[in-house]
Amino acid sequence: MAGRIPEEIVEKVRRSQDIVDVISEYVNLSRKGRNYFGLCPFHGENTPSFSVAPDKQIYYCFGCGAGGNVLQFVMDMDGLTFTEAVARLASKSGVEVDLPTDLSEHVQSHHSEEHQGMLDAHELLRKFYHHLLVNTKQGEEALRYLHDRGFTDGDIESFHIGYAPPGWETVKQFLTKRGFTEELLHKCGLLVSKQDGTTFDRFRDRIMFPLFDHHGHVVAFSGRVFKEKDKDEPKYLNSPESIIFQKSELFYHFYQARSVIRKTQSVILFEGFTDTILAYRAGIQNGVATMGTSLTDSHIQLLKRHTKEVVLCFDSDSPGLKASERAGKALEQSGLRVRVVTMKAGMDPDEFIRAYGPEVFVKECVEDAEPYVSFLLNYYRKGKNLEKEGERLLYLEQVLQVLASRSQVIERDVYLTQISEEFRLSKQVLNDQLQNILKANVSRGEKKEVRKKSTQPLPEQRLRPAYEIAERRLLAYMMQDIEMFERIQQKMQELAFHRDQHQAILTYLLAYYEEGYESDVSRFLQFVEDDTLQKDIISISMMTMDDVCSDEELDDYIHQVKKASILFEIEEMRKQEREAQREHDHEKELQLALEILSLRKML
Ligand code: UTP
Ligand code: MN
Repeated sequence: MAGRIPEEIVEKVRRSQDIVDVISEYVNLSRKGRNYFGLCPFHGENTPSFSVAPDKQIYYCFGCGAGGNVLQFVMDMDGLTFTEAVARLASKSGVEVDLPTDLSEHVQSHHSEEHQGMLDAHELLRKFYHHLLVNTKQGEEALRYLHDRGFTDGDIESFHIGYAPPGWETVKQFLTKRGFTEELLHKCGLLVSKQDGTTFDRFRDRIMFPLFDHHGHVVAFSGRVFKEKDKDEPKYLNSPESIIFQKSELFYHFYQARSVIRKTQSVILFEGFTDTILAYRAGIQNGVATMGTSLTDSHIQLLKRHTKEVVLCFDSDSPGLKASERAGKALEQSGLRVRVVTMKAGMDPDEFIRAYGPEVFVKECVEDAEPYVSFLLNYYRKGKNLEKEGERLLYLEQVLQVLASRSQVIERDVYLTQISEEFRLSKQVLNDQLQNILKANVSRGEKKEVRKKSTQPLPEQRLRPAYEIAERRLLAYMMQDIEMFERIQQKMQELAFHRDQHQAILTYLLAYYEEGYESDVSRFLQFVEDDTLQKDIISISMMTMDDVCSDEELDDYIHQVKKASILFEIEEMRKQEREAQREHDHEKELQLALEILSLRKML
């Protein structure tokens, strides 16, 4: 590990990146007044309590207490050390900084050597596969297959599609010759081992789709057969999970789509990654797909950090519809808005595009996708004969359950009207039934809420006594600028803060200004180093303060602090008074009583 990075460098790097830009890569922020708000990436939540203050260049979560400057954010978010975080931001901003020699390596290799080796092997192999597909005779047949399916050369380039040759040891030789060990290649799934311990290539004679992680590294492959295949060979063969590839967290094409997802505040979720590619050519740039797994919690949390809406575009066959119902439910529960694309029975996006063309597809996908509720109302009809009373009642029951879960009264009303017209039922009756369901749900929901609260590891929110609030407000003003600091100091004179942390912050602040630094919370945090104090500093500086403040306001705070001093003193004397009483020292007792009296007068 390198020695300490000189302070000027840390400062230069910190200032080179705006905290809002850096955090925006991970959290969907929206502006409210002076600050930005979003969902905290450090704890699960559905209402935003995570805030970023651009003027102070700090972030703070009112829910879990996470907070700090941009360096702290990078450290916490990506699990880096301080030095690594500085190096990371330095490389990002391209600011010329003279990092201590062995430090620049940290920029890339915050990963272990093994981890990095796996990434390197995948990157090299991606190029090799691609070369085989587009430039060699070996790849001709695969290339023809792709063209026949409608993949253009542009698609093949942008999605880095390749071809794995049929040999059993081609990749093994290609990579071991370049210094990768068989052990490493086996660990990340590129090689498979036999009983006797020897290894061979996992992917043979397949069309290769590289899978990029959310930082843009190739971490796995999916290979499709394209010739007559054995019955027990899978159509798509995926890399197994490894330290670089967790399929339950990865979306195909997410890295490339991220900026469009954020810009449009919408993501289109496909079932198959080939759909993503073909839709991309039709003009849908914000499409992603899971890798043959259903949607997990990590997937949903990731989407939530970047978008408000998810459009489900699964196959319109019965497993696809079922998947839409399930995914839609989980997504809506997390607070995302959901719409669903349904195509002609049984079709998948790829077939749809081929049948009706890209324009129609984009229209259906982006504009005409129906709200999740309306999708459900249709979905529950399937397989029911609504002419029969029993099935009709079952359907109505399901529909009312769905409506009961909606928080928008207007939305409920629209659908109630629709149903009452369709089934010629009085809206009043439907509404009564709906209210019953709502009541039942509320009592169930309350129980759930209580459980949830008791398991949330959030910091205790205690009520602060008045003097503490006053101390915090004084500190907040003192951090704002040096003139204010001096003005308050003069008023305070010998007065000290009661809460130890506050007094410590005051002392640091004095030292900070004495060293000639300008007021800058983000920098001050760096100066303080003690992390419990840092937490306090952040939460204090995130209080909303006016830019100017009157003498009365300041005097009032100082009065609160003084008052507390007196109260503490009285309390102390009371103790002594009781002691004197016990020892029958009447003179002392009287003396103390008088002193207490005069202190009381001061209040
Ligand atoms: P599909 O069978 O719908 O594939 O599987 P597709 O996208 O339509 O592909 P083509 O058009 O036949 O080439 C959907 C997804 O399920 C996973 C893949 O991620 C695929 O994209 N899958 C499917 C597998 O992992 N293995 C398989 O054998 C099949
Ligand atoms: Mn298909």
